[in-house]
Amino acid sequence: FIPPSSGGTGGGVTAKDALGNDIIVSDFVANHNPGERTLAQGLKGDPTYVVIEEDQTLANYGLNAVCTHLGCVVPWNGSENKFICPCHGSQYNSTGKVVRGPAPLSLALVHANVSDDKLVFTQWEETDFRTGEDPWWT
Ligand code: FES
Repeated sequence: FIPPSSGGTGGGVTAKDALGNDIIVSDFVANHNPGERTLAQGLKGDPTYVVIEEDQTLANYGLNAVCTHLGCVVPWNGSENKFICPCHGSQYNSTGKVVRGPAPLSLALVHANVSDDKLVFTQWEETDFRTGEDPWWT
């Protein structure tokens, strides 16, 4: 089964905001601060963080927000610069790399691309840049 894509994006999905609207990258970047991580709806409907880099550009990756322990959605804690899971206390750094268990693995990556000023997520099948390992999620 291949989910319908919104136009020639090679199986990707257009990221949706909390209201279900397509994320328009120029507006999104203008309205978010450097370092922000914002939840959007991503591949397979998974909650996925859109990352604004410190230079206020859109990162070329997104982070699946589902905790690799037992699946809680992990909130971003800007003052700690980490994702901290409310369920059992796992922690992930600002790129989603696990830094404290019980979570066994880092948050899954997706590619974040811009197409016609819309944010499109696609599968990340390459090496995990945080660990240098093959992705565990493919
Ligand atoms: Fe996140 Fe258990 S589900 S730490």
